[in-house]
Amino acid sequence: MRLEGKAALVTGAARGIGKALAQGLAAEAALVHVADLDEAEPSGGLALRCDVSQPKHVREMFAQLDRLDVLVNCAGITGWVDVDDPDEDTWDKVVDTNLKGTFFCSVEAAKLMPRGGSIVNVSSVVGARGMKNLSAYGASKGGIDSLTRHLAVELAPRGIRVNAFAPGATNVERNLADDPRYLEIWGPLIPLGRVGEPEEMVGPCVFLASDEASYVTGQLFYVDGGWTAVGSYPESYVDAAQRRQA
Ligand SMILES: NC(=O)c1ccc[n+]([C@@H]2O[C@H](COP(=O)([O-])OP(=O)(O)OC[C@H]3O[C@@H](n4cnc5c(N)ncnc54)[C@H](O)[C@@H]3O)[C@@H](O)[C@H]2O)c1
Repeated sequence: MRLEGKAALVTGAARGIGKALAQGLAAEAALVHVADLDEAEPSGGLALRCDVSQPKHVREMFAQLDRLDVLVNCAGITGWVDVDDPDEDTWDKVVDTNLKGTFFCSVEAAKLMPRGGSIVNVSSVVGARGMKNLSAYGASKGGIDSLTRHLAVELAPRGIRVNAFAPGATNVERNLADDPRYLEIWGPLIPLGRVGEPEEMVGPCVFLASDEASYVTGQLFYVDGGWTAVGSYPESYVDAAQRRQA
């Protein structure tokens, strides 16, 4: 019952992580509105259709709400952009959905929030680590990390907190559609030895959304099985150094 009496909106809630977050917030007794480009299963509150990359759509969506305590900015897309042949439309779509969408949803949500309101942005480990052909996505998520700090400062006088969490590789249908071997190829690269489940994102999100985090703002929380904690190193060197010590 950690979110009892709170009204929440989760964007990107039709599937994947957003769907799990909407269900998870509802399980903590929040009234949960869901929003997506596609039809999302209701989670106790309204089910809204919205393209978050379009500020006009965002304003129309928020006009249907009269109060809000929690916004979870989860709507997001991945787009591959090759540095040798970059596609401008893909770049714009990724940045507009992930970064611009997060900003304009936050702007509208803040208007409806009383003191104690909480905005939770869904970033990615790729905001802080490089990967081939992921510059647009990575930059949009790094932008979300920065936006989180800026909005935290700007909204603090109004008693509204802004934080982010960054999932690592997660078991969603989209990733399995990209490569059916997703779980087996990513698992060995992660210290905990496996890909995360969407439901494992719920705890960190509920914490940041709830009054338990009443003194936490402007922070980024990695939920990645330890992926960002590792530096690459040759294990043979560690073995050799240990042998020499012995
Ligand atoms: N799955 C992962 O491995 C992973 C890792 C790190 C971060 N993330 C982040 O988590 C969030 C959710 O990702 P997911 O893996 O569940 O993806 P997903 O593709 O399963 O779900 C994304 C949802 O967002 C919706 N959406 C896309 N564009 C939208 C728009 N313009 N307006 C409204 N809704 C829109 C889609 O319709 C979809 O329902 C994203 O922000 C993603 O970047 C995911």
